[in-house]
Amino acid sequence: MYAQMVQTDATHVRKLDEMSPEERAFQERIDRGEKIEPKEWMPDAYRKTLIRQIGQHAHSEIVGQLPEGNWITRAPTLERKAILLAKVQDEAGHGLYLYCAAETLGVSRDELTELLHSGKMKYSSIFNYPTLTWADIGAVGWLVDGAAIMNQVPLQRTSYGPYARAMIRICKEESFHQRQGYDIMMKMAQGTPEQKAMAQDALNRFWGPALMMFGPSDKESVHSAQSMAWKIKINSNDELRQKFVDQTVPQAKYLGLTVPDETLRWNEEKGGHDFAEPDWSEFFEVLAGNGPCNRERLSARVKAWEDGAWFREGLVAHSEKVAARRAAPRAAAE
Ligand SMILES: [Fe+2]
Ligand SMILES: [Fe+2]
Repeated sequence: MYAQMVQTDATHVRKLDEMSPEERAFQERIDRGEKIEPKEWMPDAYRKTLIRQIGQHAHSEIVGQLPEGNWITRAPTLERKAILLAKVQDEAGHGLYLYCAAETLGVSRDELTELLHSGKMKYSSIFNYPTLTWADIGAVGWLVDGAAIMNQVPLQRTSYGPYARAMIRICKEESFHQRQGYDIMMKMAQGTPEQKAMAQDALNRFWGPALMMFGPSDKESVHSAQSMAWKIKINSNDELRQKFVDQTVPQAKYLGLTVPDETLRWNEEKGGHDFAEPDWSEFFEVLAGNGPCNRERLSARVKAWEDGAWFREGLVAHSEKVAARRAAPRAAAE
């Protein structure tokens, strides 16, 4: 998922009789499945948590362009280049819908950008891994976008209207992303032995980081319990990870590739696969800023922001000029 370990400020999930009348009415609306819209009353903690979650999600879409953008100039055919270009462009669009959704909660896009650039707000750990070969672009589409879909499909039912609506549009595009990744894997897996080995190597490197995308188990987490009560989180991290594994294992088999987990097996009793946990110490290292590409990703974003300053300033100056021109004849007539 693109927002990992979102804090809520909650120390415990309060029962209805511990809430103020406004909070109770708010919670009851959520329980009835109503959507909360921007101008309506909401508890401060709900607003703040959503800003954190949507902000992290938006940053992930934006930073997520970097590992794939890296291959646009080296895509093997013109068709693959056009497809990858469209996919990366979609991710920019996802970032923009989400920044807009966050803005309805009273935070500006500039503030969110500043929080990302200063390292105070995170993006998904997955984008701190390098894309070393063309097969990695297949693995990213198949596994990373696949994991994103797992998390984003339930978020279409999330309680905050603008977030839920952004998700509906995003999910349509994510399905295309996942299919394009799988299509690349299919070509590679059916190609020369070297190409097949490349596909296997990409799966080996992305399997663990993809499982980490769902975050560590949150069975005991008060933040997850609170987010679930607010319906801004719909499933637990473990549930989503299990679904992802169960969906992906047969796809790997169809490709003729091996999931890099010797403990992986079907468990008839639970109706799902048993599998090994990813390396959580690596996850926390990446989160702390020490993954293979953290510094590179952040500095690429900061550079893009600084290099684009003249353009943003130009846009503002132009819109001020247009507004002044519109106001001028009116002022003269008065
Ligand atoms: Fe996306
Ligand atoms: Fe995507």
